[in-house]
Amino acid sequence: MTHSTKDIIERTATIGLGVDRLQALQSFNTRLVCMNVDESSYEEVVTGVWKVIGCDYCALFLKDPHSGQLVLQASVGYDDVSSGLRIPCDDPTSIHAQAFTEEYMVCLDDLSGTPGVNPLCHKMGSSLVLPVISNQGPVGVFDFGSNATHAFPPQEIGMCSMVVDQMSYSLENIRLVRELRDSRDAVIRGMALLSEIRDSHIGGHLSRICAMSRYLAERLVDRVGYREVTPSFLNTIERAAALHDVGKVGIPDSVLLKPGKLTDEEFDVMRTHSTLGADLLEGLIDDYGEYAMITMGAAVARSHHERWDGKGYPNGISGKSIPLEARIVSICDVYDALTSKRVYKDAWGHEETLQILREGAGTQFDPDLVKVFLSRPDDLVEIRKRYPDKEIKST
Ligand code: C2E
Ligand code: SIN
Ligand code: SIN
Ligand code: SIN
Ligand code: FE
Repeated sequence: MTHSTKDIIERTATIGLGVDRLQALQSFNTRLVCMNVDESSYEEVVTGVWKVIGCDYCALFLKDPHSGQLVLQASVGYDDVSSGLRIPCDDPTSIHAQAFTEEYMVCLDDLSGTPGVNPLCHKMGSSLVLPVISNQGPVGVFDFGSNATHAFPPQEIGMCSMVVDQMSYSLENIRLVRELRDSRDAVIRGMALLSEIRDSHIGGHLSRICAMSRYLAERLVDRVGYREVTPSFLNTIERAAALHDVGKVGIPDSVLLKPGKLTDEEFDVMRTHSTLGADLLEGLIDDYGEYAMITMGAAVARSHHERWDGKGYPNGISGKSIPLEARIVSICDVYDALTSKRVYKDAWGHEETLQILREGAGTQFDPDLVKVFLSRPDDLVEIRKRYPDKEIKST
């Protein structure tokens, strides 16, 4: 439930709220309102509540609709609890399950004689568990704990329930946005896989390109000149890199699967895959709106075969006119293509591959990025090991 300002002032007056707490509450509310839902996390919300209340422990459990269990999403203060801890909703011994099913608080003032009542911590003094109720009904529970006994007198409970109320809408928004984003990403990934499946060399290729692109981008963080490499850039490139070759879906088998070298005419056809892919993705944006992964995917698809010296395709742009994400994926794509077997060639050895990239620095590739990419070759071998090729169809 949301509260009007008047409402809050009245309630804070009755519960004797100090100025510090009021300020903490206000900044928490501001953060909830201004939060970019896509980037935010349960961690952030739980930490915010914990700062406002100032107790020793906080934890958020949400009901998993598939298993019907309460699953720990985030906690502060507890040692040794990993998110993912599950409590069955019908566990008769659980205070969390009780608060959830009865939709009513459970407050235990003195746990000193009954250690273990709260499974998150065995040496707790007092514990308050409140149901989290969204407009759809109960969605989980919020757990407050203190080392002291009797830490949750009535006015403290009033404060805790007010904060939990205010948080519950944000939680619902985070959940919905994630669910939407995950299903969207799954469909887009499926699209990328479909285009690769005809190529038959796949298996680990897409996963490696994604992991390597994120890796190279991560290594740019904090370097001068790469302010655009933010956490959201990292999350986006990791997914968008998979889209670099979606346009291959429009290349006829006779060209795509040709066992030997392509003729000039065939290579002209092959080169259209970058424009085909970018146009496909930009069409999706026109029809369904902006989505960071698609927007970046379109830039990567269009420009991943451009060259630093301007001799690439489709537009012959050069240097920093080539979007950074495409310069990154280009290096990772060629590294992976060279170290892999293709219908038209055998795999190159690791050393030869590094040599080709080194030689391409400043002509084919952004020399700065190549330097960073090649500075820890063991990392590349490690990524390759993590995503080995799986033969999907023999050629
Ligand atoms: P791909 O196999 O995924 O290769 C991606 C890029 O890696 C190539 O882009 C190229 O820059 C680099 N690359 C791959 N193999 C080699 C190599 O042996 N030597 C060097 N120096 N670079 C290599 P490119 O050339 O624009 O090719 C785009 C796509 O066109 C390739 O994607 C592949 O599907 C197809 N293709 C290119 N050449 C041939 C060919 O001779 N025969 C067939 N059947 N397909 C080819
Ligand atoms: C997030 O928590 O919003 C980022 C998770 C991801 O999609 O990588
Ligand atoms: C930037 O100056 O932030 C861009 C750096 C680059 O594109 O390489
Ligand atoms: C190749 O396909 O063998 C070379 C392509 C390039 O370096 O532009
Ligand atoms: Fe390509």
